[in-house]
Amino acid sequence: MTGTPRSLLITGASSGIGAALALHYAAPAVALALTGRDSERLAAVAAACAARGATVATATIDVTDRDALRSWIERLDDRTPLDLVIANAGIGSGGKREEETATRRVFATNLEGVLNTVFPVLPRMTARRAGQIALVSSLAAYRGLPTTPAYCASKAAVKSLGEAWRLALARDGIRVSVICPGFVTTPMTAKNKFKMPLLMSAERAAGIIARGLARGRGRIAFPWPIAVVSWLTVALPWWASDALVRRLAPSD
Ligand code: NAI
Repeated sequence: MTGTPRSLLITGASSGIGAALALHYAAPAVALALTGRDSERLAAVAAACAARGATVATATIDVTDRDALRSWIERLDDRTPLDLVIANAGIGSGGKREEETATRRVFATNLEGVLNTVFPVLPRMTARRAGQIALVSSLAAYRGLPTTPAYCASKAAVKSLGEAWRLALARDGIRVSVICPGFVTTPMTAKNKFKMPLLMSAERAAGIIARGLARGRGRIAFPWPIAVVSWLTVALPWWASDALVRRLAPSD
């Protein structure tokens, strides 16, 4: 068990899973640092968290803006050392075919955004020999899907990065978890036209994530039936994996 975080940062907190996590953790004596791109929605989430007794700092920063994010995180950490950082901000390709521009945007947000969030805090957590980092990947990370190549690849990179950091940073007293959700009801999935099996609310997902983080679980993958199918796509020989993916996620 790792206990309840007292000072935490969540990127992409203006909606969906990030907002639900912020509300989940909001309580008296908890300092929340929330970022997102939409200042109005972020202010509404911050007000709801403050109403639950949390101290809230907000900033409208694009996670691809490395310098702005670094200087905000460093200022926050100077004031109240962060004990949990959740790199949650992410985008899909909007349901359109992922052309070059969309592909680069997805990588910049989903992968570089994670690097821009984690690197400013790493030397500080290392010096303190304490801290927890959570990277929001996806069950889509397990195997490339023909409909969303860049999304899957960016989330696979995040998953791999988190797994490697978990082992590499353990000796510095830093715990790293990779979060792999299935389908969660958020503005991101609202665009999906297909049937999403075992779709769950963002509040339920936030509860599962927070419980997993409190237990210090390395991988928080849910719901389990989709996690099992995702694992199967990795374990099967390529041709059987391709056949399974063609059945479950046809490209046209
Ligand atoms: P969402 O669209 O509701 O939230 C995304 C958040 O990220 C928003 O607050 C948005 O402002 C922020 N964001 C996006 N691009 C940004 C940028 N460049 N700079 C700063 N903030 C940015 O979507 P949702 O579903 O809550 O997504 C949260 C995370 O969960 C994402 O990383 C997503 O890939 C991941 N995820 C979501 C699943 C789902 O079914 N909703 C399933 C698996 C993973």
